Amino acid sequence: MNQNINKDKIIIIDFGSQVTKLIARRIREFSVLSEILTINDLKKKNIFQNVKGIILSGGPSTVTKILFPKIPNEIFNLNIPILGICYGLQLIAKQFKGKVKTNVKKREFGRAILTKTKNSLLTKNFFKKNKSIVWMSHQDYVYKLPVGFSKIAQTDQSEMTIIENKQKKIYGIQFHPEVTHTQNGNVIFKNFIFDICKTKKQWKLVSEKIRIIKEIKQTVQKDKVICALSGGVDSSVVALLIHKAIGKNLKCIMVDTGMMRKDEFKSTYKIFINKYKLNVKILYASKIYFKKLKNIIDPEKKRKIIGSLFIKIFEKEAKKYKNVKFLAQGTLYPDIIESRSVTGSKTSKIKSHHNVGGLPKKMNLKLIEPLKEFFKDEVRELGTAVGLTKEISQKHPFPGPGLAIRIVGNITPEKVKILQEADYIFIQQLIKNNLYDKIWQAYAALLPVKTVGVMGDSRTYEYICLIRAVISEDGMTANYFNFPKFFLDEISNKIINGVKGINRVVYDITSKPPSTIELE
Ligand code: XMP
Repeated sequence: MNQNINKDKIIIIDFGSQVTKLIARRIREFSVLSEILTINDLKKKNIFQNVKGIILSGGPSTVTKILFPKIPNEIFNLNIPILGICYGLQLIAKQFKGKVKTNVKKREFGRAILTKTKNSLLTKNFFKKNKSIVWMSHQDYVYKLPVGFSKIAQTDQSEMTIIENKQKKIYGIQFHPEVTHTQNGNVIFKNFIFDICKTKKQWKLVSEKIRIIKEIKQTVQKDKVICALSGGVDSSVVALLIHKAIGKNLKCIMVDTGMMRKDEFKSTYKIFINKYKLNVKILYASKIYFKKLKNIIDPEKKRKIIGSLFIKIFEKEAKKYKNVKFLAQGTLYPDIIESRSVTGSKTSKIKSHHNVGGLPKKMNLKLIEPLKEFFKDEVRELGTAVGLTKEISQKHPFPGPGLAIRIVGNITPEKVKILQEADYIFIQQLIKNNLYDKIWQAYAALLPVKTVGVMGDSRTYEYICLIRAVISEDGMTANYFNFPKFFLDEISNKIINGVKGINRVVYDITSKPPSTIELE
């Protein structure tokens, strides 16, 4: 039974914005439970139980068309405070007979300066000298105030940037307070959830650990659980939580694909065995991975081969354990949100993300997903609460397909070896210079082009190593990390001197979007 059902909560109705998840995070950072719902979820029974506030997210749709995603009218009369963000504001405007239009000339993307026009509970302590810098992403704007609303703030391009209906406690803002580029964005959420919605702080991450362990015990009882352990943060936290709940009845399997970082697989295996006394078995599978990946250039094909091979190997092994009833997975909250359709439309797929989440249900095992309500940084915190070493809990994310998607083009054991060495040097240098924890994700990649160089008195003709380091909050958007020049000099020098096969190092200075974090 989910013991969170009696707690005050804020719900976020998702209209498909890339940053909806950040809203949920911001609310939880104030120790308040938050849940992201789709429009379809609103039909469920008792969905508004304990809901103290409703946030309508942004999204790609426009209310200027005949058909647009909306919520049932009754929700506006539930007497629950509502905050509309971007598309959410436009929806409120439309609902209350304001006017919205698309104007490409007036669109605002990025930074904008907001000017206060009236006091509001929502913007208490938000402005400095009546101004604030906010982050915008819109081309529709409200040009006629909806009935019963007043204007709180404006920018040069959008006159109704913040509006309120104080009596009905309905608020709309055109900018995105959830992104860090908006100065003081958190103040808006704080005012909304505490001053306007009167929500109580009832949600604590550490008490979640106790709840999860109890729930696993109740569900599994005397049966056995199998878990695919990669040594990354998510599967490690899952394994430790389940181990705390059922001890030796948890069986972990590590599949060595040969596409891992240098020495990483063995060292994490040792930690699980020696420190945590987990029941772990390694399956060595690199030969078959190299064979199947031979001459495969297409990134999507690589991902599919790696994913399905993983499933095959895991399935075969799982069949050997006759009395296992459950399969544990490290599914996170963003995985669940990303895999469901917000408005019924299918968002275009950019990459086939592979992790254990792709395991087939026909294995006749019931799923246990203890992390499915949490974000990555919350999982790290849970990891610490459950005794996971910093070495693992603070590890940068590592993709399921591993180095295979960091070797652009054809994969060979030689290339993997070259990349492992370069990547090792890069990561060690980051740790040595106290930069590792400041970066969200960093890695080295190998480009499939050889260029000419000169070493000593000889000509060389070797590969290019690309290094990537990004700062991000959840991997959805990212900026490249601004290294000091001395570090770039040092890293280039160390990689070229230390790794045979590389004679040029380049630093990737693109953000996401337009690039992605991984190369493939
Ligand atoms: P992209 O390259 O899509 O990556 O900007 C965003 C984040 O997702 C990770 N990633 C993956 N993780 N299986 C995973 O478990 C995958 O197939 C996969 N592909 C990308 C990537 O490392 C980054 O953290």
